[in-house]
Amino acid sequence: MTTTTPSAASALTNAEVSNADRSRVFHSWSAQGSLAPLPLAGGSGTTVWDAEGNRYLDFSSQLVNVNIGHQHPKVVAAIQAQAEILTTVAPAHANAVRAEAAQLIVDIAPDGFEKVFFTNGGADANENAIRMARLFTGRDKVLSTYRSYHGNTGAAVVATGDWRRVPNEYSRGHVHFFGPYLYRSEFWATSPEEESARALHHLERVVQAEGADSIAAILLETIPGTAGILTPPPGYLAGVRAIADRYGILLILDEVMAGFGRTGQWLALDAFDVRPDLITFAKGVNSGYVPIGGVIISSEVAHHFDERVFPGGLTYSGHPLAAASVVATINAMREEGIVENAKRIGAEVIGPRLEQLAARHELIGEVRGSGVFWAVELVEDRDTRAPLAAASIGALKGDLLSRGLLPFFADNRIHVVPPCVITAEDATRGLDIIDEALGAFQR
Ligand SMILES: Cc1ncc(COP(=O)(O)O)c(C=O)c1O
Repeated sequence: MTTTTPSAASALTNAEVSNADRSRVFHSWSAQGSLAPLPLAGGSGTTVWDAEGNRYLDFSSQLVNVNIGHQHPKVVAAIQAQAEILTTVAPAHANAVRAEAAQLIVDIAPDGFEKVFFTNGGADANENAIRMARLFTGRDKVLSTYRSYHGNTGAAVVATGDWRRVPNEYSRGHVHFFGPYLYRSEFWATSPEEESARALHHLERVVQAEGADSIAAILLETIPGTAGILTPPPGYLAGVRAIADRYGILLILDEVMAGFGRTGQWLALDAFDVRPDLITFAKGVNSGYVPIGGVIISSEVAHHFDERVFPGGLTYSGHPLAAASVVATINAMREEGIVENAKRIGAEVIGPRLEQLAARHELIGEVRGSGVFWAVELVEDRDTRAPLAAASIGALKGDLLSRGLLPFFADNRIHVVPPCVITAEDATRGLDIIDEALGAFQR
């Protein structure tokens, strides 16, 4: 039976949607007074549109999560089918679709991973990975980088490096260090090898100075995303693993943004010589069609809890609508070669074209990335590398929107992060728009 009661919202104009939003919706990470959120009503593939039919090419994947594109028919159908069977089930029960989602996720992880603890999103994935590491090691401290985002819950936001940590610093046992970022090196390095070696030396000194026996985990985004798409230099992640092993510390890799196709690999860590103890995920695992995240747990950590209670849980852990969407997403990504597409588009279209833009526009200090995960550093001056001023970033953002491109900005950077399903034609069209907007800005 298909009865539909269309939401009254579908008949609204953009102005009505905006007014309704402004009067009743309290938005994230913002002073509320001057907000003007873009109204969006629908989407398909790499396109989204507003209530009046204005269309945008989605170069943001929303919050870098819609890896499979908007409204993928197989994922929508799987959610609808599951809704007919069982819309919710308590986490204490066994459920077939939840177990199938866990199996598919473990299949994607490296050898040695065995179980999945499901959460509602990425923050609580990190929250619970930290908890597992503390219980496993009997230690307290968690080391993470200043250039990182790990989510908006108690420990995850304090593990975060950026400004969002500071007003929320109520969890204990968190220590920060600098990771590698050659373009703005903290280590006066002039080559990737030097950056890697010096960043590792710095980390090991922090471990020693903090008291290695007090450290439960090193928590890293495999490729820090919001902080700038900072692909680690050669040897860095293997070096972190070696330091963790030397001092009996667990390594947690946060794949919430970088995982599930974004980098052109199933997991970003697949491109590196590293095996963590815990992997956290969310976003691309089902492109956010229904909220879900989780921790992929190595056998060693999983079996630690065979006879010991794991003191953590969530009412919606492994929610069946979310689990069904995970199964459909992973299967569709396999059947349709979506991860391979992301890799090819990065190597053949986005990377080369961004290099061309960098050669043409003085405003670009550096481009870096892989797959559909790229950062364009915008600078006032190429020699000083001073970040482009916030007012200019605001103007550029407005111009890109007016040209039909929905961009993703972080600080002074454009992050080129379209869905993994983007075609070469659409990627080129989006990059043409960025080219035109940068040209107009410079004129
Ligand atoms: C690397 C990383 N970890 C964790 C999170 C938090 O995920 P969520 O917003 O689903 O809680 C994010 C969100 O952007 C992220 O990028």
